[in-house]
Amino acid sequence: MSLPYINMLLKQFARGNPVLETSFGTHIHWGYWPDPAAADPSSPADYAVAAERLSLELIELAGIAPGMRVLDAGCGFGGTLALLNDRIPDLDLTGLNIDARQLARAVQMAAGRPGRPPAFVAADACRLPFADASFDRVMAVECIFHFPSRAAFLQEVWRVLRPGGALVLSDFVPAPVFAPAGRALKLPLLKRFNMLGECDTSCTAAQYRRLAEEAGLSLAVLRDVTRNTLPTYPFLSRLVGGGALGRLSRTLVFVMDFTGRRGLLRYSLLRFDKP
Ligand SMILES: C[S@@+](CC[C@H](N)C(=O)[O-])C[C@H]1O[C@@H](n2cnc3c(N)ncnc32)[C@H](O)[C@@H]1O
Repeated sequence: MSLPYINMLLKQFARGNPVLETSFGTHIHWGYWPDPAAADPSSPADYAVAAERLSLELIELAGIAPGMRVLDAGCGFGGTLALLNDRIPDLDLTGLNIDARQLARAVQMAAGRPGRPPAFVAADACRLPFADASFDRVMAVECIFHFPSRAAFLQEVWRVLRPGGALVLSDFVPAPVFAPAGRALKLPLLKRFNMLGECDTSCTAAQYRRLAEEAGLSLAVLRDVTRNTLPTYPFLSRLVGGGALGRLSRTLVFVMDFTGRRGLLRYSLLRFDKP
């Protein structure tokens, strides 16, 4: 899979782009602002803190305790794993990504940090190369919409989780009326605007509940945090304005902002439990 925004980021990092290095060099996801009114859309440093905050919200939701074995599926540059390593002692961490280039950066970034470095594995999150019942927690931060199948991923997570384990993830969950539009980015017509690559944001809350049940999991928490993520869009708009995000069109940012504000596409944190 080739994701245009990842290609662009890696190219810009190689050129030493300080704005993108600060804002997306560690975490490749939306920001979370506890107080959205206090966000500074002109500040990459403010964005970096908000991106870290999003990972922390999911870590808290996961209830990760010392000594646990944790898998971060779709781990990007390993930012969430680095936070786990810094904050919770004695974890056994594994990061998995389909893109070996991102893993190479993750390995490099993890090398120089204190604590036991995570293991990094190149694989598809829908075909996890791990034994049954080998993890206490699985995380998937803002990546499930790229995976070939949510159903296959949830089934694999059920298999690799120990009884009593949990999966946490973040995703753009559509209101039922907006769900068909969640497949729009696959349309050839929209391809040239589409910096985000293959995405499917058509899975509603009801569908998540059903897919989880079919996989043997239960949807324990679905928290709509759209309001806390909205300052992401003015920040992205400024980057587009400065040309830094290349082909990512203002239109796409505008549409995501608009649909978020109107409750059509809800940035959500989800937790699934395995009995
Ligand atoms: C928006 S980024 C999020 C990265 C990371 N979770 C973070 O929050 O920084 C989406 C990630 O999903 C990864 N990805 C896409 N399809 C995947 C797949 N089938 N299996 C594993 N990872 C995948 C991409 O390579 C990318 O790292």
